[in-house]
Order: sequence, then structure tokens, then C-alpha cells
Amino acid sequence: MQAPQFLSTHATDVDQALASMLDARSSVVAPSLLAAMRYSLLAGGKRIRPALLLECYQTCGGTESGLANIETIMPAALAIECIHTYSLIHDDLPCMDDDDLRRGNPTCHKQFDEATAVLAADALQALAFELLASANIDSNLRCNLIHSLALASGCQGMVGGQVLDMQAESDSEGMDLLAVERIHLHKTGALLCWCCEAGALLANASDKQFQACSRYGKSVGLLFQIADDILDTTASSVALGKSAGKDEAQNKATYVSVLGLQRARELANEMHELAIAACEPLDRTDAKTSTVSNNNKSDHLQALVHYILERGQ
Ligand code: IPE
Ligand code: IPE
Ligand code: MG
Ligand code: MG
Ligand code: MG
Repeated sequence: MQAPQFLSTHATDVDQALASMLDARSSVVAPSLLAAMRYSLLAGGKRIRPALLLECYQTCGGTESGLANIETIMPAALAIECIHTYSLIHDDLPCMDDDDLRRGNPTCHKQFDEATAVLAADALQALAFELLASANIDSNLRCNLIHSLALASGCQGMVGGQVLDMQAESDSEGMDLLAVERIHLHKTGALLCWCCEAGALLANASDKQFQACSRYGKSVGLLFQIADDILDTTASSVALGKSAGKDEAQNKATYVSVLGLQRARELANEMHELAIAACEPLDRTDAKTSTVSNNNKSDHLQALVHYILERGQ
């Protein structure tokens, strides 16, 4: 499935902004640490999370508000990629999923060493909050974004989900749909949902628009991890840029292991439908004028969810 054109445009912008942001930190104490951060951060991920943030911002009328410019949203877009990349570096460590390949390259601990990988990920996490804390936006909004990203990434979000994921490896008998949904909503869904909600908040969205983005983000978050579970069983390592077939080998609790491939695909379709339905109020509502503006339509959000579904089919 071809990625929508706007996704690659956003990815190029985000890649450039990430590179200059790291260049501006070239005087750090340990160049080897910066090298490992740069290695993982600039390895060419799909940049789905920044795209969700930018597109929710746009759909909620962000580019029409007085705040509309790339400087308003880029710190949050870069912050989420820092958190996401840190989560991948840790996820790949021998004590977790023990992976050798990530984004088509050796994993961070293979390229460098385990201590450097752990510390590069730690530094990326701190960097995410540094970026948000120095964003040139309203101070209440800044605090809100820092607080909500801490919740989405920490023990109540991604890290909590990663713990459930690891525990489930030795409890496959006890796994049912609700248990695996809980893992996925936390380990993956929380950060994707944050992107959608943060995009809406940065655009000064109405409550209705915020709720719609939040509902969209929850469905997309779950869909994204279901698609990842399916791809682990159906795609090649070359196509994925990471080792395929690892979930079964490691006895992971996934939608495929609990439901089988066919039912997992059906559930992905259901999540896709829910995400599309969540977009509907975004087309109907323009908070400020009560009219539908062409710029605010949810076409791109719908295209993103189609892309995520199709990748996993
Ligand atoms: C991989 O995320 C980890 C999951 C949450 C499934 P992505 O598939 O977004 O990875 P990159 O950023 O494109 O490498
Ligand atoms: C990872 O899930 C979710 C994270 C929080 C990083 P997976 O373990 O399935 O991600 P991949 O398949 O290694 O990218
Ligand atoms: Mg994992
Ligand atoms: Mg993994
Ligand atoms: Mg996976």
C-alpha cells in the first residue's frame, strides 16, 4: 500500500527538523551519546505520530487560527518522535524483545552497546519534555501538553503497557481479547491518541472537535497495533525493516495469537470503521463559523486510517 503523499511530505519536514534540533545540541558532554540518539532518531521511521498530530491540528482549523505556523506544532511533533524512538530502543533490548533489526538497520544496542542504548533512550525521553517545555505557545497549553504526554508515556500509558506485554509472555493461557486490548491501548494506543488530542489542543479546537480527535485517536491507536501484530505474521523482515515472526517465537499476546489472523483482520476493519465514524463531526463542525470549510475536512485523517488498515491486510 502506497503511503499518502502528505505523509511523506510531513516525514521530510519532521526529519529535517529533527536533524537541525540535534545539530543544535552538538556540544553535549558525550558525543557518543549524541551519535546513538541521532542514529536511532534519524533512521527513517514512517513518522505516523507527527502526521496524526499535524493532521488533527489542520483539521481542527489550526492553520486558520492566529497561531498558525509550523513553529507552533513542530516542538510537539518532534517530542513525540523522541518518546517513540526511546520506546523502540528499549523495546529492542535483550531484556525486552531482544531484536537485532530496527528501521532497516541494526538496533541501537547492536550498533553501539547496551549501556549506550539505554542512556540514549533515557536522553531522548528527557529531550522530548525539554522540547515541549521550551515551545513558544500559551503557558497553560504548554503545561497541559507536558502533563498529558507524561501520562501517555509513563506508568499509566506506554511504559505500563510494555510491562503488561512482558508479563503476558508467560501467561498466554490467561489471555483473552480484553486483556490483549488493554495491553495494546496502553503500549501503543496512548501515544497515538496523545498525538490526536495534542493536535486538537494546539489548534484551539472546540470541545466537540477535541472529543472527535480523541475518539479517532483511540481507534487508530488500537488499529495500529492490530496491524503491527498482523504484519509480524504476514510480512517479511525486509519489508518491515524489523524482524518478522518474533511475536509467535516469543509467545507474545497479540490479536493474532488470541483471535487468529482472520478475526484479527475483521477487528482491524471494525477499528477502521470506528475511526472513520469519529471523523464525521470534524466535517460537520467548524467551531468558529458553524460552516464546513474545505481546509478543515477530515480527508487526510481518513486517508491515514485507510493507509494503516491496508498495510495490515
Ligand atoms: C513500531 O511503530 C512500534 C509499534 C508501536 C507498533 P512504527 O511502526 O510507527 O515504527 P516506525 O516509527 O515507523 O519505525
Ligand atoms: C512495541 O510493540 C510498542 C512500544 C511501546 C515500542 P512491539 O514490540 O510489537 O513493536 P515492534 O513490533 O517491535 O516494532
Ligand atoms: Mg514489544
Ligand atoms: Mg518489539
Ligand atoms: Mg510488533
